[in-house]
Amino acid sequence: MLVLGIESSCDETGVALVRDGRSILANVVASQIEIHNRYGGVVPEVASRQQISAIIPVLETALQQASCSWDDIDAIAATYGPGLAGSLLVGLTAGKTLALAHGLPFLGVNHLEAHLYANWLRPETESPQPVVNWRYQEGDPLFPLLCLVISGAHSELVLVREHGSYELLGRTRDDAAGEAFDKVARVLGLGYPGGPAIQKAAQQAEEELREQHKPVDLARKAYRLPRAWLRGSYDFSFSGVKTAMLHLAEGVVSDAPVSAVATHTGDVKQVSQYTRMGAQAAQKGAPNIPWLAASFQEAVTEVLAVKTRMAAQEYGVRQVILAGGVAANARLRARIEQELRPLEVQLRYPAIELCTDNAAMIASAAYFHLSLGEQHGLDLDVQPGLSLPFKK
Ligand code: KG4
Ligand code: ZN
Repeated sequence: MLVLGIESSCDETGVALVRDGRSILANVVASQIEIHNRYGGVVPEVASRQQISAIIPVLETALQQASCSWDDIDAIAATYGPGLAGSLLVGLTAGKTLALAHGLPFLGVNHLEAHLYANWLRPETESPQPVVNWRYQEGDPLFPLLCLVISGAHSELVLVREHGSYELLGRTRDDAAGEAFDKVARVLGLGYPGGPAIQKAAQQAEEELREQHKPVDLARKAYRLPRAWLRGSYDFSFSGVKTAMLHLAEGVVSDAPVSAVATHTGDVKQVSQYTRMGAQAAQKGAPNIPWLAASFQEAVTEVLAVKTRMAAQEYGVRQVILAGGVAANARLRARIEQELRPLEVQLRYPAIELCTDNAAMIASAAYFHLSLGEQHGLDLDVQPGLSLPFKK
């Protein structure tokens, strides 16, 4: 089954052609990053206008790249939520119109669910052909699995027992992980989107230390930052660490008593010493941006990794998968891998370009729903506030 997928939930316009939910024939993404970078974040009105100008050229490029005609396509899928209403409308309307014009079945896709399905995708050359069982092909993720969904607007730990079966174990009580990265990057003057910028700045700090033959960990512990463990729950909270970063970035490096700080590793003395080093750096001039970035990235990824390991252990899953833009973070991947090693639970994550918004994941998620006989009418409307369909 060849599905044409369309993604337009935020500031990326994507069209992809995916065979049997797994192999990518074409995956074209037009990004608006440069435009929104000027404002330090996505401007919804600008985003929807850009979606309108990008959708047709992106569609034409994808069809060309896949060297296929409309006769080869079996179904059309488009994101219908969650996301920005104006942006969603462009892709959804394009999808429904194409389905009507070419007499093809149409399916609206939940963008969050699609992020999970990025883990099922691989290049055409690596896909076993033909698919004999739509539910499972060699190389697919294994159920039951735990998924850490970490995007610009969501941070959730989800237990997935089967295609379409989702149980919510925990979610953020305030900011999403990606949102925290974006806000902190803005404060540090690192631009938009914040995640890749913070990762790059943190790597710079680690490089500096490597050149001086010092442990890379010094950069990560340079600033004392709070971690919200919210014990007894798989929920997250990133507003505390974000606020701490705001103060640090303003040069207000507090010399708060060590007892006031949640140091998960217990290495209180060392942390306190590095905090003082950070404070000195800040007093000399501007706060040390790369070290601040490394400390922030560590605080966020440590909580995500430890809670993911705890949930994987409790629910005895076979695999852990990552989904959403923040899954592109190299430190997060390494940190979770480290946590899971003693459990022998496999970790898998999508290729970097499939972590952030794209249409291949939309076509993949659509395939599994279409295989179950699902389809939407052309009266389907956008649902900006849509969440994963959790079981009670
Ligand atoms: O999934 P996504 O592309 O869009 C949403 O559906 O929200 O996620 C975007 C988020 C942004 O907050 C961005 O800063 C973050 O993913 N992100 C990263 C990295 N790459 C993108 N965060 C941390 N490290 C990265 N390398
Ligand atoms: Zn997304």
